[in-house]
Amino acid sequence: MANDPSLSAPRGTRDLLPPESWAWQRVIRVGMDMFAAAGYAPADTPVFEHTEVFERGVGETTEVVGKQMYTFIDRGDRSLTLRPEGTAPVMRAVLEHSLHRAALPVKLAYFGPMFRQERPQKGRYRQFWQIGIEAIGSESPLADVEVIELAMRFYRTIGLEVKLQLNTIGHAADDCRLRYSEVLAAYLREHQAELAGIDRERIRANPLRTFDSKETPTVEVMAGAPLITDHVCDECRSHHAEVIAGLDALGVEFESAPRLVRGLDYYMRTAFEFVAGGLGSQNAAGGGGRYDGLAELLGGPRVPGIGFALGLDRIMLSLAEQESGPQEGFVTAYVTTLGEAQGTAALEIATRLRRAGISADLDLMGRGMKGQMKAAARSGARFTVILGADEAGPGHFLVKDMTTGEQTTVDDQELERRLTR
Ligand code: HAM
Repeated sequence: MANDPSLSAPRGTRDLLPPESWAWQRVIRVGMDMFAAAGYAPADTPVFEHTEVFERGVGETTEVVGKQMYTFIDRGDRSLTLRPEGTAPVMRAVLEHSLHRAALPVKLAYFGPMFRQERPQKGRYRQFWQIGIEAIGSESPLADVEVIELAMRFYRTIGLEVKLQLNTIGHAADDCRLRYSEVLAAYLREHQAELAGIDRERIRANPLRTFDSKETPTVEVMAGAPLITDHVCDECRSHHAEVIAGLDALGVEFESAPRLVRGLDYYMRTAFEFVAGGLGSQNAAGGGGRYDGLAELLGGPRVPGIGFALGLDRIMLSLAEQESGPQEGFVTAYVTTLGEAQGTAALEIATRLRRAGISADLDLMGRGMKGQMKAAARSGARFTVILGADEAGPGHFLVKDMTTGEQTTVDDQELERRLTR
């Protein structure tokens, strides 16, 4: 089977197995708990949506929608798409269930797999995981600051160093981003001959996208391009200033990134990315921004919002480069049997411990004493509980402290207390 490619995981996907899966779960738990502690309730939307949700929400001129979506026609002749991101689906769900008509803001947190058919490389997969939050209903720069601070604290808590890059990309109005688009398009036309071929088409369709280009000639042209920060309207400028003041007040460090435009069309005003080391070219460990126009694109009323999504695959890769990663999954007690003692007795004790909130494991392979002791050592358990040892006597167990090797006799009644001491 391993040699038959059609029976291995599809290109760009991977299996999450222990020990990595323990660290993975820990990181998700840290995030969801931290977001909940700031009022973000867990939410989950379907893995696939009607294709229009992304075409309209994310935008047809974006790479994600134009080139990367897993779109298929189902047996009912509907066009469906595996979600490439979570913001448009969350907004779709908010509108569909009228959450925006109840108390605002609606604060939601989520994690799960996303799908983009990109060329796989280090840190870039076709199925990847995001953890994110969305604060929907507030236009206040305070919401931007809250969201960004949470992301930075999350990274710090899991031990990953990231740099926050911050920009404003204005809003789609004549006196703001549209005016800037024209200024930029004029500049790009002047330098058309120097641009990489694939970027020339962008001038008309979406000139801002040229900032996302990885082509060296284009990157050189963009280094001299007019910057959006110099062209946004007064309101967007003052929103940005308030976000900066808020971040300063909370001691959140950032870098101004006037060339950061983000790859999804729903963004306006605040746009940000978190850049991590050890990832090569795929160094964005997360990103987000404000999307006050998204609800209208999805056929709803104007409902502002801001949020982020952090790429778990990249976070775990970067953490692995920094350190060997946290060891997890160790149980407190491994229950073994000696002599006459039966497996069922071990299962009874393990279950009793688990019910008391003490993590426990046992042999399910019918191993002899030696094999069980090896399994106990392999499991990384703190203690081995030995049932049926003659020297312990009836109603007593031997408890071996696996770190010191010390062995003690413990009365049945005292077992839980001994293991939690
Ligand atoms: P995004 O920048 O497209 O934003 O994705 C967020 C993060 O997902 C990226 O920074 C990266 O860490 C991870 N990511 C994206 N594509 C891949 C891939 N192919 N392989 C591995 N990781 C990847 C969004 O998706 C927005 N929905 C974020 C947002 C939430 N904005 C407002 N609210």
